[in-house]
Parts: sequence; C-alpha cells; structure tokens
Amino acid sequence: MTYYFLPGRLFTLSKAELLSVLPLYVKDFTLEYAAPSVIFVKTNSLEADLKQVFERLGGFLGFGKVIDENGQFLAPFMDKEKVTFGVNVYGKVDGFDYSSGKKFCEEIKKNLKANNVASKYLFATSMVLSAIVVEKEKILERGFLMEIFKANGKLNYGMSLGVQDIESFASLEYDKPYTDKRMGVLPAKLARMMVNLAGLKPNQTLWDPFCGSGTILLEAFKQGIHVIGSDIDSKAVRMSEANIEWLAAKEGNKSTKYKVFKMDILKPDSHILGLLRKTDFDGLVCEPYMGPPALETIGEKRARALLEGVKSLYVALFEILEHSKLSNFNAVIIVPSYRTPRGWMTLSVSDFVGKRWTILNKKWGEPLQWSRSDSIIRRNIFVLSKRN
Ligand SMILES: C[S@@+](CC[C@H](N)C(=O)[O-])C[C@H]1O[C@@H](n2cnc3c(N)ncnc32)[C@H](O)[C@@H]1O
Repeated sequence: MTYYFLPGRLFTLSKAELLSVLPLYVKDFTLEYAAPSVIFVKTNSLEADLKQVFERLGGFLGFGKVIDENGQFLAPFMDKEKVTFGVNVYGKVDGFDYSSGKKFCEEIKKNLKANNVASKYLFATSMVLSAIVVEKEKILERGFLMEIFKANGKLNYGMSLGVQDIESFASLEYDKPYTDKRMGVLPAKLARMMVNLAGLKPNQTLWDPFCGSGTILLEAFKQGIHVIGSDIDSKAVRMSEANIEWLAAKEGNKSTKYKVFKMDILKPDSHILGLLRKTDFDGLVCEPYMGPPALETIGEKRARALLEGVKSLYVALFEILEHSKLSNFNAVIIVPSYRTPRGWMTLSVSDFVGKRWTILNKKWGEPLQWSRSDSIIRRNIFVLSKRN
C-alpha cells in the first residue's frame, strides 16, 4: 500500500520529523520524496499504525492512501444512502482551477446519484478545505475527502485518512493557564516537531532544562512521555507545573508522570546534580534563553554577547550530560542565528559538544530551520545523538 504525507511549509524539517517517528510504529517501509509537496510511504503495515504516526506529527497537514490508477475509489460508498464528500487540490495542478474543480465534484455527485446515493460536497475557493471545516462537517466519517496533488510530474489522487488537528495545537497555545511572553515562547507546532525528533516512545522520559512556561513539556506529556522540567526562574517552574496539571485534568491523564524544579544550569546544586545523574532519562529537548523578542536587526556586539550567553548555557548542560548515564540518547536543541547589519551570526555546535556526540542533521542533507523571511532571530534545530 502507498500512503502520502503532505508536509507544511518546511519540507526538510517535516521530513526529518517523519523519519524520526515512522520507525517507532512501522517496521518495514520505503520512502519517496517529491519535494516540496509530498512524501510517499510504501508499507505493508496496518493503516492504524500509520494513523498513530500521523497523529503524533506537527509538520504535516494531512495524510492518506494513494488511489491507484485502476482504483474504484467510489465503490465503498455505493451502498450508502447519503455521503458528504470534499475535494482538495494542492499546489498548481494543471487543468484545475476553481470552476473545473467544481465540475469535477459535480461529476462525482452525478456518479453517486446514478447509484441512488444522495450526496453533498464541499469545495473551497482556495481549493483546500480548512481542517476546521473537515472536522465540523465530519467529512471523513460521513464520506470521503479526495486529495489531488502533483508529484513526479503527474497528477496523484488520494483518499484522506486524516487532517491536522489544528484546534488541539491552538488549545495548547492559547487555552493553557500561563504563557511567559517575556522569555519567548516556542510555537506549539515546533515544540511538537522537536519532541518527535528526539524519537521517544510513550512512557520514556524527556528533560527540558530551560522549560519556561512548559511548551515542550506539554507537547511531550500529551504524547504520554514522562517529563522533567527545570528552569532558573521559580515563576517559570510554577507556570510549567500549573500548565501540566491543567493538561492532565483536561485529558484525564493520570499515568504520565511529571516533575518540575528550580535549577540554574550554570550553578547546579550538588544534590540536584546527583539526582539528575541517577535519573534515567531517554532524551532532552530544549530552547535556551536567546534574548528578548527582537523587532529590528541586532547590533554585532549585542549578537556576540547573546551568543556567548547561549554558549555558556550549553557548555554547562553538556558537561552535566557528559557525566550522566545515558544510552541511545538524543538531544534536540535550538541554536539561534541573529540578523545583524553585517549578516547572520551564529554558533558552531562543536564549540560545546564533545566527540562522543554525532550530529544527526547531516543525514537529512540541509539545515533544519524555523524562520520566516522577515525573522530577526532564526532558530536552527540540531539533533545530537550519544551512543555508548
Ligand atoms: C526561551 S525560554 C524557554 C521557553 C520555553 N521553551 C517555552 O516555550 O515556554 C528560556 C528559559 O531559560 C531559562 N534560563 C535562563 N538562564 C538559565 C539558567 N542559567 N539555568 C536554567 N534556566 C535558565 C529562562 O528562565 C527561560 O525560562
């Protein structure tokens, strides 16, 4: 069976995320990349396993099953009384504009009617229905969502099996009790993608040593990953705790564990350090303090000072990790780049990680970045692996 995964705007980051999560649920698979529109996954695994993969992902808008050329895709709906269906057209697809798309929907409707199946369809003027409409109209439950996209120089047709749960991201972003804007907050989707890049399964344990109001902790907790958070700021510790308690109550989750405590990574208390060294954690995901949100380019001197600050946090963190008992451990970290009048300034990871760490980014071919064209601070994501 061939499945398709439709990435968001950052193809390389999404691809790295999919490559980190797929092997956790699916044994045998081969991938085919048709950048920037789609990634095909060929596998004999169960559809339910692929669904579990998709539901974890932050960087994909949808996924589904490719309809092969001889496929009778309407056959399963011919014995229904009433069907609601939708059609999505991704990117520039020759021969499809709004009016030809509507004609295509009318053809399907006629076909269903010829078999005594009543139908209602939805086709957006933008040619892609919003996830909210798909959810509200229960299109996947009451019928089907057909997706058309160009890849490998030809038209591909697919039956959607899931669209991104935008409301769940929005809820973690806006409904939680506390957000600490002063310190900078990670977008929930990026936090989800970073947690996934660590390749952890439910019931493993993740540490965020700069947890702030807990964006990373929440995304991991939501997936059943036990979380440990620490921060220099007691207010941040309280906010993270309150946010996790809120999520645990909202989801009725009593089995996933969490612990949040105060810790200055530059001057760790020897008792806490001892506990951390004995703790069995399986992965680390974090964003260090990178300065206040910036609206205009940053002077070179200021950028150098901010980078020195980030470097000292990482030197201290990797010193702790160096002496911890870790096996098959991934650390997913953010290294900032600052836009200065003389160009971008950043740090080299080899300035703070020892030789026992491998930088996994190399296998994905391009830098993993989260930024927009007008960003002043760019987030570079590094996945580092320590094997014993
Ligand atoms: C960019 S914020 C993290 C935001 C977090 N990812 C979120 O989305 O809520 C960086 C955090 O690092 C913490 N921090 C700064 N210096 C620290 C230190 N020496 N030890 C531990 N935490 C520190 C700050 O208090 C701040 O909460």
